[in-house]
Amino acid sequence: MTIKVAIIGVGNCASALVQGTRYYKDVKDEEFVPGLIHANMAGYRVKDVEFVSAFDVDERKVGKDLSEAIFAFPNNTRKFSDVPKLGVMVKKGPVMDGLGKYLKGYVKVNEGDKPVDITKELKDSGAEVVVNYLPVGSEQAVRWYAERVMEAGCAFVNCMPVFIASDPAWAKRFAEKGLPVAGDDVMSQLGATVLHKTLAKLLVDRGVKVNETYQLNIGGDTDFLNMLEEQRLISKRISKTSAVKAMIPYDVPLRIGPSDYVPFLDNKKICYVYMKGEYFGGTPVQVDVKLDVWDSPNSAGVVIDVIRASKIAFDRGISGQLTSPSAFAFKHPPEQMPYETAKRRFEEFIEGKRER
Ligand SMILES: NC(=O)c1ccc[n+]([C@@H]2O[C@H](COP(=O)([O-])OP(=O)(O)OC[C@H]3O[C@@H](n4cnc5c(N)ncnc54)[C@H](O)[C@@H]3O)[C@@H](O)[C@H]2O)c1
Repeated sequence: MTIKVAIIGVGNCASALVQGTRYYKDVKDEEFVPGLIHANMAGYRVKDVEFVSAFDVDERKVGKDLSEAIFAFPNNTRKFSDVPKLGVMVKKGPVMDGLGKYLKGYVKVNEGDKPVDITKELKDSGAEVVVNYLPVGSEQAVRWYAERVMEAGCAFVNCMPVFIASDPAWAKRFAEKGLPVAGDDVMSQLGATVLHKTLAKLLVDRGVKVNETYQLNIGGDTDFLNMLEEQRLISKRISKTSAVKAMIPYDVPLRIGPSDYVPFLDNKKICYVYMKGEYFGGTPVQVDVKLDVWDSPNSAGVVIDVIRASKIAFDRGISGQLTSPSAFAFKHPPEQMPYETAKRRFEEFIEGKRER
């Protein structure tokens, strides 16, 4: 029971995901495995994930075995597992708008090789699920790769905020081809969005009127460096803001998004959530939370579930938007819902009690 997976963008998130498949390769089907939300998902375990293809543009990654490329600079996430040679060479994709003004020069584009035929590579490798980890703002590149994914007949897991799964026109095209699509923009296992969203829901449920809220985020990796370019951030802000906004049934002044690049943080991310409101008798209340995490293992903790959900959908002949898995795992899903509802529906999907 293997799940053949291809990766677009061998950055920090890819590193954490690949490491995770080794870290959890021997886990038993216990009810609680630290760090995993599901050890056994409808018969699929983490060890069933097999990487068969990977694409990047950086000369320090292209031409390397995936097991080496994930640890190549400028990747700077935590190493938590050794990864043996995987026999999967990272191949060159087209650069297009993948690199913004801050990443150009930092990411060293491989000039020696021509981009490969992505559709052919995906088909030849037998990839079933393609995970997209391109940098924020790669509007053209993501759409171009999504076309290749459809040509190759694979499921698409869109981990970043160019809207594909949540765009009805794109989702319809995947559905017409009999292919599942999940996204958009991963909501980390214990990240800023799920925390902020859950706090907002708590305050509203407890009758607190939220008067204003912000969420500031800083980090020191290429993701945060790239996100200094405000123009590339439009969909990221929409994605992050929509997740919190959906929990508050009235208009509130809010500001949410990546806030600065602090190089020495490496792949660590610091998030500050501030919420101000009033409760009984108009009495003021303020909530301030600081979250300190490694960013990429946080995304992998969820993507490992979406990969398996996509394969389950394939097995069951379900195509198009994977509504419940997307609501569970992404910031900007086709249907936004409180976390507990999304989690319950996702479990129902896994058990086969809900189609999507
Ligand atoms: N917790 C998280 O880390 C998290 C959560 C939500 C969303 N995301 C999103 O996931 C994406 C990946 O994050 P990351 O930390 O791995 O970023 P990263 O910068 O470490 O990796 C991006 C990779 O894409 C490669 N690339 C650039 N242009 C390319 C092209 N045209 N074709 C192929 N490869 C190309 C880069 O060389 C790099 O290796 C980002 O968009 C990020 O915002 C991450």
